[in-house]
Amino acid sequence: MIEVYNLTKFYGTRPAVQGLTFRAEKGEIVGFLGPNGAGKTTTMRILTTYLAPTAGTARVAGFDILDAPLEVRRRIGYLPERVALYDDMRVRDFLMFMGRLRRVSRLKQRVDEVLEQVDLTDRATSIIGTLSQGMRQRLGLAQAILHNPEVLILDEPTLGLDPAQRVEVRRLITELGWERTVLLSTHILPEVQQVCRRVIIIHKGRIVAQDTTEALGERLEGSRRILIQVAGQEDLTPLLTRLQNLPGVLAVAPRDGHGLEIRTQAHLDLRPQVARTVLESGYDLLELRSMTLSLEDIFLHLIQQEDEEGEPEPESPEVAAPSAEASEATPTSESKGEAA
Ligand SMILES: Nc1ncnc2c1ncn2[C@@H]1O[C@H](COP(=O)(O)OP(=O)(O)OP(=O)(O)O)[C@@H](O)[C@H]1O
Ligand SMILES: [Mg+2]
Repeated sequence: MIEVYNLTKFYGTRPAVQGLTFRAEKGEIVGFLGPNGAGKTTTMRILTTYLAPTAGTARVAGFDILDAPLEVRRRIGYLPERVALYDDMRVRDFLMFMGRLRRVSRLKQRVDEVLEQVDLTDRATSIIGTLSQGMRQRLGLAQAILHNPEVLILDEPTLGLDPAQRVEVRRLITELGWERTVLLSTHILPEVQQVCRRVIIIHKGRIVAQDTTEALGERLEGSRRILIQVAGQEDLTPLLTRLQNLPGVLAVAPRDGHGLEIRTQAHLDLRPQVARTVLESGYDLLELRSMTLSLEDIFLHLIQQEDEEGEPEPESPEVAAPSAEASEATPTSESKGEAA
């Protein structure tokens, strides 16, 4: 478990993290999201006791980071942003060394297991300095999980990995998350949607949203979209008018090709009514799909909102529903397919 209360860090007079309060439970993988300089790494370094906070406190695995840093370190696995490895050691020797430091039992067997998990078995005798960037990252992950820590703090764990390895590492993290508490930072938004049940978005050192991945989408959305492609008749105006008159439809707009985008109230699923209306109006229905906002849309929306409004409200876990106008300004959904 991770419990963070009012955590604040100033570098000199410049605030990096201001009044962060959040929890992450056992069995939970929480995504830590924010643009460059948001304060993610700073927060993680404080939680792993490598950096002292200016104010506030945190408990990790039940121990206070200020009162019991050694107890905390014993129970966490940390993959730092820049992994420090001993370049002239061999892969297996390094893990044996780290394992001895941490008094891991049945170490040899455990090292084999972990090498297998991060797909480095065939590089066990390589000199670390000769590994590729992605291999170094995976070795960093291996040392983070070696002692079976109950809390994992991973700063961009898939950075520099190729697509196949990213999939592998995500699967590994998902597995690890069943019995542990995982806090992971990333810039890859689809990754959050795939791996994390909950997400904390920070911007300029403050939390701007924290919720489940789905709830964030729903709450910000306020409306649902249905996209259709039709054929049969050139002129779409009669269909557009009929769709507009369906109860629960907020707006209908033409889209590329022979398409229409229908915005409906969020709590309604009007797909059957839309399909029926298309056919009854004498058109053929080629495609119908409903869209929700991707995390990327939400993220950009929140960040823009904060920038426009200036200083965000401190400690506001609630995401305000966007105004209709702001919602129109949100980048729309061209990239949905890839993001999902
Ligand atoms: N050692 C340091 N000394 C002074 N300022 C620092 C130091 N480390 C970080 N900062 C500042 O604190 C702020 C937060 O940085 P941090 O590294 O926590 O961001 P981040 O969210 O991890 O960003 P990124 O996505 O780029 O990794 C930034 O303004 C950064 O310049
Ligand atoms: Mg960082």
